[in-house]
Amino acid sequence: MNIQENISLKPFNTFSLDKKARFFTSVNSREQLIEALIWARNLGIEVFILGGGSNILLTQDINSLVIKIEISGIDVVKENSEFIWVKVGAGENWHNFVLHAIENNWAGVENLSLIPGTVGASPMQNIGAYGIEVKDVFHSLRALNRASLEQKEFNSEECKFGYRESVFKNELKGKFIITSVTFKLKKKPNFNLDYGAIKEVLAVEADSELTLRAVSDAVIKIRQSKLPDPKEIGNAGSFFKNPTISKDSWLKLQQTYPKIPGYDLPEGMKVPAAWLIDQCGWKGKRFGEIGVHENQPLVLVNFGQGDGLEVKLLSEKIQQSVNEKFGIDLIPEVNFI
Ligand code: FAD
Ligand code: EPU
Repeated sequence: MNIQENISLKPFNTFSLDKKARFFTSVNSREQLIEALIWARNLGIEVFILGGGSNILLTQDINSLVIKIEISGIDVVKENSEFIWVKVGAGENWHNFVLHAIENNWAGVENLSLIPGTVGASPMQNIGAYGIEVKDVFHSLRALNRASLEQKEFNSEECKFGYRESVFKNELKGKFIITSVTFKLKKKPNFNLDYGAIKEVLAVEADSELTLRAVSDAVIKIRQSKLPDPKEIGNAGSFFKNPTISKDSWLKLQQTYPKIPGYDLPEGMKVPAAWLIDQCGWKGKRFGEIGVHENQPLVLVNFGQGDGLEVKLLSEKIQQSVNEKFGIDLIPEVNFI
């Protein structure tokens, strides 16, 4: 086990925030993970689990042992005429797994192309995009109980998936470390093209047979046109979740703001947070080294030398202004550290 001391986490978070880890190690097996946990326990040191660092905001140095999960492996564990069950190590890069599935003609994750981060973090907030969420292709996961060091398997119901939610962000927060996820993918695609501009982009691109690759390419194209590339400009994707308000509240707001968008859901109306933030005048605003992205105001950015605390303060000002104008509370999607 190689434990490093006082290392900068700048290369390990997509916001590119320059905070330090007191101790840092990478693990590529469950055994190494247990060894690292015991090391920390013996010294009375807290542990922080890191995947690809694409959904965290570092507001301070981490005075703990940061364990970067690098457990790899993509293995078919079962198949029948319709489905294929694939077990994936928590440290695999999510997009590489999607590309691997597409190459093998396994359908179900193509709409989730180009989401940064690791497979192990994907159930944490039930990642989603373009009409699909991880829960739609999820079979089970294995996780290590941090206290007992025992392995537990979770099925979909036990994960309590919701919109950008799971049991691991709530009741079981900080209790388990995900070591692998098993997905149930389809041998015959069931394309989901109803969301956003996928159909338009596909129509311009192709008149031939629809393939998983074509759908993935369309999603990648749309994402690249909207979202900043963390390699060029620090960010963690959507900073807030899209809020859902009651239909009555939405109809009232519509009287004042006739153009307010809203998506009718069983639980109420989902309003795009990007629109609310845009209406409050934040889009493209820069404050020194941090700001609000010029194409997608739901994305807060670090131009290079920004500080996590500044980003936090900016996010609070945005929340306040949206609340004052619309009476809607924006809940952060990003994990504050
Ligand atoms: P990290 O940021 O490393 O960790 C996130 C949280 O999970 C932390 O609390 C960490 O402690 C915990 N964690 C990580 N791994 C494990 C593990 N193995 N076991 C237990 N806990 C763990 N998200 C979407 O849902 N949809 C999108 O379309 C989307 N687009 C994005 C676009 C951009 C440009 C960026 C930068 C981010 C985007 N995100 C999106 C957010 C992000 O990609 C996801 O949340 C992703 O799943 C985070 O993975 P990660 O490995 O980077 O997690
Ligand atoms: N909008 C504006 N002004 C803008 C941009 C957008 O008003 O400058 C409004 C428009 O009404 C637009 C709407 O916002 O129709 C929605 O924008 P977009 O299609 O870009 O999607 P989003 O709701 O902002 C969500 C997810 C993304 C996911 C995409 C595609 C959340 C919090 N975000 O974004 O996930 O990739 O849909 O499915 O649900 C992430 O979670 O990090 C993430 C990037």
